[in-house]
Amino acid sequence: MSEPARLPKKKLRAYPAGRGEFICGDCMEGMQTLADESVILAFTSPPYHNAINYADHVKKLSGEIGRWERAEMSYGFYKTFLVGRFKELLRVVKQGGHNVVNLSPVAWQGRRVPLPFHFVGWMEEIGWRFKEDIIWEKGVVRDKRSGVLMQHPYPGYYYPSLAAEYILVFQKPAGKKRENNIYHNRTAAEKRASRLNMEGYQEQSKNIWNIRPVAPRENIHPCPFPEELARRVVQYYSYKNDIVLDIFSGSGVTNIAAERLGRKHIGMETEKKYIDFGVAEIKKITRGV
Ligand SMILES: C[S@@+](CC[C@H](N)C(=O)[O-])C[C@H]1O[C@@H](n2cnc3c(N)ncnc32)[C@H](O)[C@@H]1O
Repeated sequence: MSEPARLPKKKLRAYPAGRGEFICGDCMEGMQTLADESVILAFTSPPYHNAINYADHVKKLSGEIGRWERAEMSYGFYKTFLVGRFKELLRVVKQGGHNVVNLSPVAWQGRRVPLPFHFVGWMEEIGWRFKEDIIWEKGVVRDKRSGVLMQHPYPGYYYPSLAAEYILVFQKPAGKKRENNIYHNRTAAEKRASRLNMEGYQEQSKNIWNIRPVAPRENIHPCPFPEELARRVVQYYSYKNDIVLDIFSGSGVTNIAAERLGRKHIGMETEKKYIDFGVAEIKKITRGV
């Protein structure tokens, strides 16, 4: 695969990291600097509607404020924000390439909004083809919803604890049927270099992945996904030296997994503090620490 041809950059700063880089700024502007069809795989976990005010969280990290609040945003505005960015992503992903998204329902105005299910419809409307739904089973549960039934053991009081998130896989349709997959046109040497280690595949062959979430002390980000999650996505949906993009890269876990697997990578993130964390982690990999 060739390097993405770059259009002149706007006021965005890039931070090199191993085989890739992080771009600090709005991913909409970041993607506008990438050429059409230059990326094979996109993997991300977008900001969850009103869950976290990241700018506030970063100020809390550096001691500027004592506590951080939720972000306030209407669901309609959130939909427009996401759809616009995933439309731009469709332009930069190669035909047959994938767009993998980690999402879960969100709490809003006292109810659970089925964001992942709405999201599938939004993606199909703009041209992505739905391919897989994978459940990320976290094992560890942090909420106490199920305790309600313990206090009121009657029908109507069942609120299961939230132990899972969704990994939704979409593909950019290709014009010709035979080009509809990323293994099309790979040489034998490229296939050999990216051959998968099938150890542990029995467990991963099901669309339920049991992966422990990241403990708070392991990462500065308030909601990073585990490297093992990113590792599976990157190894199943890209080849060595392909370009992997995370448009809401946070602490850079997608980039970290891509670096270890010999992929090129681009992360886009508005908060520089999170980028600094990702750059430092990738430095450890390249130094063999
Ligand atoms: C759910 S978090 C991603 C966490 C990441 N997967 C990790 O493991 O650290 C979403 C991230 O999107 C960033 N973000 C929000 N709006 C953005 C935008 N317009 N462009 C780029 N990044 C944005 C937030 O600062 C936040 O770090």
